[in-house]
Amino acid sequence: ASHLHSQRSKVVVCRNLGPDVMSILEARPELDLVVWPQDSACERSWLMENISGATGVIVMLTDKVNAELLDKAGPSLKVVSTMSVGYEHIDLKEAAQRGLKVGYTPDVLTDAVADLSVMLALMAGRNGGTGVDLVQRGQWTSFSWAPFALCGPQLSTTATSPTRKIGFLGFGRIAQATLARLVPFGITHCLYSSNPSSLPNHARDAALTKQHKLQAVSKVDIDELARESDVLFVLAPGGSETYHVVNETLLRKMKRTSILVNASRGTLVDSDALAKALREGWIWGAGLDVVEGEPNVTIDHPLVKEPRCVIVPHIASATLETRVEMATRAAQNLIGAILGWEMPSQVDL
Ligand code: DGY
Repeated sequence: ASHLHSQRSKVVVCRNLGPDVMSILEARPELDLVVWPQDSACERSWLMENISGATGVIVMLTDKVNAELLDKAGPSLKVVSTMSVGYEHIDLKEAAQRGLKVGYTPDVLTDAVADLSVMLALMAGRNGGTGVDLVQRGQWTSFSWAPFALCGPQLSTTATSPTRKIGFLGFGRIAQATLARLVPFGITHCLYSSNPSSLPNHARDAALTKQHKLQAVSKVDIDELARESDVLFVLAPGGSETYHVVNETLLRKMKRTSILVNASRGTLVDSDALAKALREGWIWGAGLDVVEGEPNVTIDHPLVKEPRCVIVPHIASATLETRVEMATRAAQNLIGAILGWEMPSQVDL
């Protein structure tokens, strides 16, 4: 048995992925699984200890994959598979230098994140957080119904307000799925800014304009995006290139009735600048699924103190269906890389 054991590939799994997905991994006799035993984020010291000699590792976005960890793994390592579409927690340069394969989980979470992005836009615009809080504190009796109480800007167009410009910072799969969901609200324009090095895609924009019967889908510079958007969705990758793109300068250019939604990474938004923007009324409200420094976002955080800031704890992909699909994809990516099959979703290094 020990002879057989030595031929199996050690695989470290940083989180129990549930019976449906663990059974996919357990069904592979080629793998020798080492699974973080607790229902909490994997401890760094445990990971550092167990990674040595591993062929593959399944990580979460809370596990930093850097040179230190990869050195500890040693030359046996072939694949890092993350259960996330974001991969800024993985040092891709270090992975490439070591000839590793990196797997991620695009597509399967696009719809869930787009759904939640719309929820945040509505919650932030329509005082969803304040309203729920008021009822839960037993204040409805004193609040009663009043003609203009808890009014906010309407997401859909109206007879007297027939134009809605939706902005996207980042215009990939999730942004485009969010756009599709907003079409029935009667939105009229879609503006976006994306990676400055990416070429404009006029054919795609013309096709989207036609498909959604909009007046325009156009790539604009970030100043115009800030000035024109009624709702600005931040849906771009994290990492150093997008660090604090939403800063005081940008926020000061936004409309006073505008909403900011962030369902990408907390690092894209300067929290102090956003808190100031909300406090001083430069913008109307914000809906956040992510906050820089999470999960250390406590009641004394400047954004938690802002009543017009609706924050949920990084749950955009958290649907019963999507999380199983993400975990399945992470398992398939790992198995594919180790057994020499195709990886369903491999990061280009
Ligand atoms: C991701 O996948 O990167 C999200 O942040 C969590 O689903």
